[in-house]
Amino acid sequence: MNPVIKTILNRKSVRSYEDRAISAEIRDEILTATLRAPTAGNQMLYSIIEVNDPSIKDTLARTCDNQPFIAKAPWVLLFLADYQRWFDYFVASGVPEMCEQNQVALRKPEEGDLFLACCDALIAAQTAVIAAESLGVGSCYIGDIMEQYETHQALFNLPRYVFPICLLCFGYPTQQQRERELTPRFDRKFIVSENHYRRLDPGGLEEMHRDRQAQVLGNRKNIEGAINFGQYLYRRKFSADFSVEMSRSVRAILQVWKEG
Ligand SMILES: Cc1cc2nc3c(=O)[nH]c(=O)nc-3n(C[C@H](O)[C@H](O)[C@H](O)COP(=O)(O)O)c2cc1C
Repeated sequence: MNPVIKTILNRKSVRSYEDRAISAEIRDEILTATLRAPTAGNQMLYSIIEVNDPSIKDTLARTCDNQPFIAKAPWVLLFLADYQRWFDYFVASGVPEMCEQNQVALRKPEEGDLFLACCDALIAAQTAVIAAESLGVGSCYIGDIMEQYETHQALFNLPRYVFPICLLCFGYPTQQQRERELTPRFDRKFIVSENHYRRLDPGGLEEMHRDRQAQVLGNRKNIEGAINFGQYLYRRKFSADFSVEMSRSVRAILQVWKEG
């Protein structure tokens, strides 16, 4: 098997790290690869903050839904969807004056620009994940960085058109992590269709989730009152406090972005 595919197929999220720093050379190699990620219009609509201040990592371990391993990760990168840099450049380049002269309204970053910047930031993040993996460095995404916007805005001094889209923890996996099984994925037939979107009927949905239901429920009739995997996941994730907070926080970010 080609080594790139092998790296991708064997990757797993790593949440427990050896007490071993990642050398400056390896970090540099990962960042160099990251910055080669494809980017919309070759604009690099993202910024990356290396978080190495232990007190900031401690704060993140708390504000990102209480995940203590964040504080223990040897290397932490924050990926930001960033339209601030381009908009500042437009302003510095006299774009507002040009618009005034031409009697057209100045367009500011909008929702489409935000989504494009999120695409850029996430593609860069995944490039970092694969580059790290190829060098024996494990990683884990933290989506909970989208929560508690006000705290993160103040912590990192984020201007209006900057959206914290994901955090990545890096470190060498412990032996237990190296040896643990890969997590399963849904069968390809439920995810990939040809030419048109295929909406699953209740039977198809049941079939898709059958293995996970068996894994979670086993022989039990219910777990915490949930009688199937759908009810279980709804309660554990979708309607959990962190999901509600994430939506509140993202609404707050959008509000700030749109006020500009
Ligand atoms: C957008 C995104 C957000 C995630 N957020 C978290 C997180 O906050 N905490 C965590 O432990 N894992 C997080 N993960 C990792 C997933 O839980 C993990 O990828 C999934 O369970 C599959 O396991 P695997 O990566 O080991 O194959 C996140 C992954 C993605 C892609």
